[in-house]
Formats: sequence, C-alpha cells, structure tokens
Amino acid sequence: MTNPLPLGVLASGSGTNLQAIIDAIEEGRVPAEIRLVVCNRPRALALERAERHGIAAEVVDHKAFASREAFDEHVVGRLRDKGVELVCLAGFDRLLSPAFIRAFPDRILNIHPALLPAFPGLHAQRQALDYGVRIAGCTVHLVDEQTDHGPIVIQAAVPVYSDDTVESLTERILAEEHRIYPEAVYLFAEGKIEIDGRRVRIVDEEPLADRALVNPALG
Ligand code: GRF
Repeated sequence: MTNPLPLGVLASGSGTNLQAIIDAIEEGRVPAEIRLVVCNRPRALALERAERHGIAAEVVDHKAFASREAFDEHVVGRLRDKGVELVCLAGFDRLLSPAFIRAFPDRILNIHPALLPAFPGLHAQRQALDYGVRIAGCTVHLVDEQTDHGPIVIQAAVPVYSDDTVESLTERILAEEHRIYPEAVYLFAEGKIEIDGRRVRIVDEEPLADRALVNPALG
C-alpha cells in the first residue's frame, strides 16, 4: 500500500471542495492525509468542516501581516512543519507570491470554475454566461506564477442551458469540481502524473468511453 500523501489545504470560504477531498480520503478513494488546513478568514465554514473531521486547522489572517510575502512565509513554514508534500488551493482568495510557489515546485494545485484558458480570474461562471458558451466546466491545474495558468491536470465539461443563471451554472460546475479535485489528488498520490512543460501526462491513461459532449444535442 502506498503511504498516504501528506496534504495541506488552503481555503477562504465555504470549503465544499475541501469537504470533497476529506470525504474521498475517508472513503478510502484517495491515499492521502490532510495534515493542515489553513484559512485566512476567521469565520470561514472550511474551518468548521476541518474541525468536524478532526483535522488540524489554523486561521492565519492575512491582515495581521505587513506584506503578502510575510504572510506566505508564515504559511509555508506551517506547511513544512507538518511535512506537507502537496498543497491544494480550495477556494483560497489570495494570490501566492513567487517565493511560496518556489517552496513547493509543481506541488501546488488549484481548482478554477472554468475550462481554462477560457475565463481566468474572478466570476468565471458569469464570464462564461456573458460570452454565451454552450459548454462550461472546471479545471484542476498546477499553480505557476501567472494566475489560473499552470499545466492542466484534469478538466470536466458541463452544458450551459439557455435558461441558466449564474447560480444554476455555478451549482452544475461545482458538482463536477467535487469529482475532479479528489481525482487530481488521487493521481498525484499514486504517482500517475508526469509534467512535461505545459503538458501533464497521466500514466496508464484509459481512453474515454464518450466521444464528445455536444450541446445542444445532435438532432
Ligand atoms: C470554487 O468554485 C472554486 O473553483 C473556486 O472557488 C470556489 C470555492 O468553493 N476557486 P468552496 O470553498 O470549495 O466551496
């Protein structure tokens, strides 16, 4: 059996992606162990989720630090103290400094609610609706020094319907986020990820059963 991969999760909000990772680990689907949850917002629901599952969680309020670099240095120190080998950003609302990224090279994942490189940045679901795409989705990618930019590990596509609102599309995308984030961690934990420039190779990859998602459906 593989040793569980030591994880650190950084969250700022409701923490539903954190919850999906916790559930996948507890159900034995992902050989990993969350060593620390760091939350920069004292009232975030993510903290309660960690505590409910007996996972170490710390509030590190960014407002208490003089600079982004000072905050990051502290968080990197805490993650290192806990022996973290993979950092998962799960709704973390702070940009990471280059020093943070260099501290965990190719070892930081982020989830973004769009099919990157489309719609990086804030309000991705609103951007997708305003653009009028028929297919939206989500992406787990490695973090590099540009926002929502690093090599892509896994993506899921969902249809966009004519009567969608930001809320309905967000909900449809979020359900897929909860499937692909634990899967990305699983791939890491099993050593199935090889990074070659921008491309991520999945070891022993199976071809997909479905050829394509087409929306609207072919008549
Ligand atoms: C998700 O939509 C994620 O893609 C984005 O922030 C949201 C976090 O949601 N980065 P939660 O805190 O995991 O519920």
